[in-house]
Amino acid sequence: MKKLFALRTVLNRSTIGRMGTTMAGGYNDSSHAQYKSHTMSLPLLRLAVDRLSHLQPPPPIFNVADFGSAGGMNSVRTMNALIPTIRPTGVPVQVSFSDLPTSDFNELITTIASDEDLQSKICGYNVVGGSFYAPVYPPSSVHLALSFVTLHWMREAPPDAGELLGGNNCLVHEVGVPPESVAAFRRIAMDGLVSFLRLRAKELVPGGEGIFSMTGGGSSDGSCTYLSAFESKRIISKSIARAVSSGSLPKDAMERAFVPLFRFTPRDIETAVGEVEELALGGIVQKTIHMAEGYPNSTLFSLFWSIHKNALKDSIFAKHNEIGEAEREMMMWHLENHAREVVDEHFTECRGARCPYMAFSVTKKTG
Ligand SMILES: C[S@@+](CC[C@H](N)C(=O)[O-])C[C@H]1O[C@@H](n2cnc3c(N)ncnc32)[C@H](O)[C@@H]1O
Repeated sequence: MKKLFALRTVLNRSTIGRMGTTMAGGYNDSSHAQYKSHTMSLPLLRLAVDRLSHLQPPPPIFNVADFGSAGGMNSVRTMNALIPTIRPTGVPVQVSFSDLPTSDFNELITTIASDEDLQSKICGYNVVGGSFYAPVYPPSSVHLALSFVTLHWMREAPPDAGELLGGNNCLVHEVGVPPESVAAFRRIAMDGLVSFLRLRAKELVPGGEGIFSMTGGGSSDGSCTYLSAFESKRIISKSIARAVSSGSLPKDAMERAFVPLFRFTPRDIETAVGEVEELALGGIVQKTIHMAEGYPNSTLFSLFWSIHKNALKDSIFAKHNEIGEAEREMMMWHLENHAREVVDEHFTECRGARCPYMAFSVTKKTG
């Protein structure tokens, strides 16, 4: 059998019990916009692959691991561009894709298996269900670790997230969120980032490389002047307000709703990598990316909703055990309709939305 195929779904308390946000349906079809953020990492990727070509002795098989692959569309595209550059040519390349156990693995496997281009370039692939805030691969088994548009998703949110964010903020990076609240989120997000890096440091072979990206960025003094992705505050809070006033969401939805993401600055990255002795920081790149420009508003909405839906649903209903799953879905459907309306009011056709991205590379020291 040419293709080695294994689906290992790691369902245990350490992964299920942790905060993690999967993308809702629609991400694969609308996320070509996010692919632009993969391309900004290409210079880092080229340097990493070049360094890997000097690994001694050359590995008999080259293991690439992608963390947070979602439906796979963007990961597969990047693998197709990357694999032919791996030297020395002729070393078989095996790729592993992973995501949270609650992700849609049927969609991921279908995307990978139906991509003939990828299949012709690799000797095998596997798919793993597990949080990247837990061990995913055996020690010293990965040559190149990748994770695109993922590290802003926090391992866990502060227990008092609602209070910290205050009134009608759903994200920590909104105008009006007190600096001490941002600091509380940063402490928890940094713990998660350092733990992610320690885990990858164990999994990488000596001399192995990692390229990781996220929404984030900011000035070198550590402050962040973000363009709010999709002007989230206005879209989310306006949509929730409309849904509450029409009686289609619980009254406390606005206070409860939040999205557990944190956008790091370059200084945060330097600090976190500095805490992991086995790793050396390569480079950091940042770019504001204009997404979905030239596409209809429905594409922008679809991307927005696929990213935010599950986090909003989890937080809005966290303390509403009396509301069953079917009713929750119905309420989210109402919220979705309000959000679509709000997106149409805010974005003129084909204008898209701007979002800041950042990527960095690390090498596992050999000494
Ligand atoms: C915005 S999508 C990016 C998907 C893909 N890498 C891309 O570039 O289009 C973020 C992905 O990270 C995954 N994710 C979030 N938290 C995670 C965690 N703790 N462990 C593994 N994956 C996680 C989500 O399920 C989602 O698939």
